[in-house]
Amino acid sequence: MQEYSGLLIVNIKTLAGIDDGEQLLKAGSRMAEFERINNAWLLTEGSRIAGFGTMEQLDMELYSRPGIKVIDARGRMVFPSFCDSHTHLVYAGSREIEYVDKIRGLSYEEIARRGGGILNSARRLHDASEEELVEQALERLNEIIAFGTGAVEIKSGYGLNTEDEMKMLRVIQQLKKLSPLTIKSTFLGAHAVPAEYKGRQDEYVDLVINEMIPQVAAANLADFIDVFCDRGFFTVEQTERMLMAGIKYGMKPKIHANELDYSGGIQVGVKYDSLSVDHLEFTGDEEIEALLGSETMPTLLPGAAFFLNMVHAPARKMIEAGLPLALASDFNPGSSPSGNMQLILSMGSIMFRMTPEESFNACTINGAYAMGISEQYGSIARDKMANFYITKPIPTIEFMPYSYGSNKVETVVLNGKVINP
Ligand code: NIG
Ligand code: FE
Repeated sequence: MQEYSGLLIVNIKTLAGIDDGEQLLKAGSRMAEFERINNAWLLTEGSRIAGFGTMEQLDMELYSRPGIKVIDARGRMVFPSFCDSHTHLVYAGSREIEYVDKIRGLSYEEIARRGGGILNSARRLHDASEEELVEQALERLNEIIAFGTGAVEIKSGYGLNTEDEMKMLRVIQQLKKLSPLTIKSTFLGAHAVPAEYKGRQDEYVDLVINEMIPQVAAANLADFIDVFCDRGFFTVEQTERMLMAGIKYGMKPKIHANELDYSGGIQVGVKYDSLSVDHLEFTGDEEIEALLGSETMPTLLPGAAFFLNMVHAPARKMIEAGLPLALASDFNPGSSPSGNMQLILSMGSIMFRMTPEESFNACTINGAYAMGISEQYGSIARDKMANFYITKPIPTIEFMPYSYGSNKVETVVLNGKVINP
């Protein structure tokens, strides 16, 4: 039984990712600012962070405060939990056979045209019960908790008909209740055109607008709306129509854009004040221009570019132009079957040449912004939610992205509670 009302973590080798809680994102050169204190303490009260400082200034009375659980973090570091702003982690089964097709040389688009890809996952989802989907997704959620994630966005989009899209969103609603993670849900009915609408794409768009969006909104099942606006999927015009309908029902957009081509997806995302535009492998000067001066978070998904062996987004160019960047896992069965944000942190540095500080900000505060929750999450700040992890003994903060592939997280705290996933 956990009967404490607060945690006092002492002797923290480095407490990283601290700020005053005022900045909702970090852009351009400020992405390099990832403040820290060495030899630190951190105090929580209920679900919130109540204070922190250096051990020299620790009030000894705190040790004997009623309801306080003391954790000695000697040799260990504390980081704000990862905020993973883009996943499709509710799905049935897996798609490793397509993965072998990919190794043999088929492209993502070729597999999709053969009825594989998203449509394959849609068939499997149709056959799975809500209970089975909840059970499988909970296992994935527990895994990402153990890797240090504290907040996650989950999309629908393997339903592709009204009933199954609603089913997916109900599963996400269940997960919100069952998991200690903070979860945001996104309606992605326009993830792919189902086979029966082949050649009648606009009719499917009409179905999304006239049937799915009103029903999803009436049941209050989605925080956001997403569209896969890219070559071979949905056009800019179709995207606009769907975004307008979603916005009318109070769903803020988050767009899949420019993964396969200069699709116009970034510009349409900015036009409709999207919280984020995601993927962005095909980002040129015009796209950067559109993003500058907007409130839209450019979000890169290195797991997908790595897994599909595709071109990389021009991350350095974007940061140097003054843009913020978020990094997310894209956890899904087709293009990124992992939700390990420590790996994404490493990929930010390895594939995008982001410094460890930039990569940490992209995986925490900027990811929180891309879910609309950076007032409460994404950094260690007084009164923010107590969502952080304590590492195993590690030498430096740089060791986190450097030592890729192993789990450096030892203890997870979510909402002020020590979690054993
Ligand atoms: O973000 N790009 C579109 N959708 C997903 C892939 C989903 C799938 O292949 O199942 C993505 O990569
Ligand atoms: Fe995605």
